[in-house]
Amino acid sequence: MIDIPKKHRDLFEYIGKTAESIGQKVYVVGGYVRDYYLHKPAEQSTDIDFVTVGSGIRLAEELAKNLPNTKISVFKQFGTAQVKYRKLDLEFVGARKESYRRESRKPIVEDGSLEDDQLRRDLTINALSWCLNPGSFGVLHDPFGGIKDLHAEVIRTPIDPEKTFDDDPLRMMRAVRFATQLNFRIDVKTVAAIKKMAPRLSIISRERVLDELNKIVMATTPSAGFALLLETDLLKEFFPEMVNLLGVDEKNGQRHKDNFWHTLEVLDNVAEVSDNLWLRWAAIMHDIAKPPTKRFDKNAGWTFHGHDALGAKWVPKIFRRLTLPLDDRMKYVQKLVRLHLRPIALVSDEVSDSAIRRLIYEAGDEIEDLMILCRADITSKNEWKVKKFQNNFDRVEKRIKEVEEKDKIRNWKNPISGQDIMEVLETGPGPIIGTVKDKIKDAIFDGDIENDYTAAYNYLLSIKDQYIDHS
Ligand code: CTP
Repeated sequence: MIDIPKKHRDLFEYIGKTAESIGQKVYVVGGYVRDYYLHKPAEQSTDIDFVTVGSGIRLAEELAKNLPNTKISVFKQFGTAQVKYRKLDLEFVGARKESYRRESRKPIVEDGSLEDDQLRRDLTINALSWCLNPGSFGVLHDPFGGIKDLHAEVIRTPIDPEKTFDDDPLRMMRAVRFATQLNFRIDVKTVAAIKKMAPRLSIISRERVLDELNKIVMATTPSAGFALLLETDLLKEFFPEMVNLLGVDEKNGQRHKDNFWHTLEVLDNVAEVSDNLWLRWAAIMHDIAKPPTKRFDKNAGWTFHGHDALGAKWVPKIFRRLTLPLDDRMKYVQKLVRLHLRPIALVSDEVSDSAIRRLIYEAGDEIEDLMILCRADITSKNEWKVKKFQNNFDRVEKRIKEVEEKDKIRNWKNPISGQDIMEVLETGPGPIIGTVKDKIKDAIFDGDIENDYTAAYNYLLSIKDQYIDHS
């Protein structure tokens, strides 16, 4: 008998009594029960799933009639009903036997017993249930060893994994996601089944795959999830560019680092200091274009020239495929990928204020996040080197601060407008206006003139002859 969390005890008792009054058994099932055994506070569970032997819709309607301030939504075609009560989403479903046709997620459904319902669920740890009827309130039903698997920290399907994944291939992503979030391993037979069935992920909508992927990205140690996605061959189904990062080449005794595992280290480093999903995506993408830019040079060794610019160029097509948003969040990731090598180039003391100003201008409000990414990018195993690189970034950051305070270059706007230029050059709109504007920007960033309207206007007058067409 379970000591049902106090927070929901009265409600659960009420649901049990209501079910009893219409001659049905009712059980709380799925994530709520799993999370109880994982010691997650009951307050955090707002979506609660119930299964009843009989009609889920009937039970939900009965409840909604008697509980104050509820809102019920009925989904007849699925035989489910949702009751919104206080801040809770209570989901009711009749116990079902269910099977899916091969090329579709549309189920064929028949009524079933509690056990029928439990065995068609995704994982043993998600197939636990407690009875809520009076007399057996709080009795655990665990026919597939979910509690044992929770203790052993293992992800496993209740029945033959191939059958479970064939019924709903998204469950392969869910298995990896739960393993990552809970820091569990996946049972070997389950891994083998995922490997075999990974191509079936193609029948699942990309949005649902992304939902699981983002949960992996937001886990405490996201690298564990990506390592599993690689091992199970799921990753290449939706993100082949990342799989291509894998591998080390050797020439003349020189090896480059494995960019797949390096990327995962960078991702974990970012995850340690930031919960910003998009900064984590920037970590995932920062070296994505290394493979096609890889060259070997006798003197320089392995190089990846231009992988930053090419990677930034790839961001939109990868975002589109994964159904990530194509708005400012994409631009943010693109910017960090494009600029991720720039702070390293500013390490030397000889670097001019001008170069620092340009970086502040280009990075804008993302400068702090860019520095987080750069620091995370240090994955050397040599402690001395790590220290040296971190000190270098400390110096760059200090200079950024100094230049920023002095020149206020962040979110800088050219004091001269296109209109000013057109008037002075006595000309209309055209590409020349942009060229002259850039020239003024360069003069300000190089420190040749002050960052104000008068200085910029006088400078414009001094260069105007070069741009006036005398022909
Ligand atoms: N389920 C399943 N197969 C799926 C999705 C869900 O069998 N593809 C079952 C599982 O028993 C799961 C329950 O439906 O526990 C509820 O699913 P959902 O609300 O998506 O997940 P939770 O387990 O509640 O966990 P989380 O809220 O972390 O997603």
